[in-house]
Amino acid sequence: MKKLAIFISGGGSNMKSIIRAIDEGRLENVELKLVLSSTKKAAGLDYAKERGYRTEILSYKDKTEDEISRALINLMREEEIDYIALAGFMKVLPAAFARAYKGRILNIHPSLIPLYCGKGFYGLIPHQAALADGAKESGATVHYVDEGVDTGRIVLQEKCEVLEGDSAEDLQKRVLEIEHRIYPKALDMVINGFKS
Ligand code: GRF
Repeated sequence: MKKLAIFISGGGSNMKSIIRAIDEGRLENVELKLVLSSTKKAAGLDYAKERGYRTEILSYKDKTEDEISRALINLMREEEIDYIALAGFMKVLPAAFARAYKGRILNIHPSLIPLYCGKGFYGLIPHQAALADGAKESGATVHYVDEGVDTGRIVLQEKCEVLEGDSAEDLQKRVLEIEHRIYPKALDMVINGFKS
């Protein structure tokens, strides 16, 4: 069994999609050991607690990068975490932590990277940018996390159409459906190997 930690900051719908995939046997060989949030306000924490998972809150406030990195590494060691899934985690990981877990941290982003990503592209912003550009398609990307923001190697992408008259919210909803499908799939590919 590989031990997984999920990092969230918000509603945690991607976290829930991963939990569902584990429950339904679509994501095998994976045990969720820890849900970590950067804020106590993350609604997803309630769900994780209800389901009996260990939850932790790690606020970045008043901490140096080194302190954050050490706190994260200690938690990961305590639970012997093998893989980490960032799922709407709104903080940048300390570089030392990203290096320590290189190849074992994934993130999901609501655009077709390299488009509409990087610092500042969160929430509705990637979708607003796609619409402002007159993009005909958008989608979601699962990628490895390196020391940059949305710069790591791409694992999986899926596209959707941008429809005439779409609002940013419409597009966000369509892309989120893709996210919920591809994140468990990408984790399966990375953890259990690429199946033909
Ligand atoms: C998702 O759109 C994800 O791609 C982005 O943040 C959002 C998180 O949503 N990184 P949720 O908390 O998983 O519902």
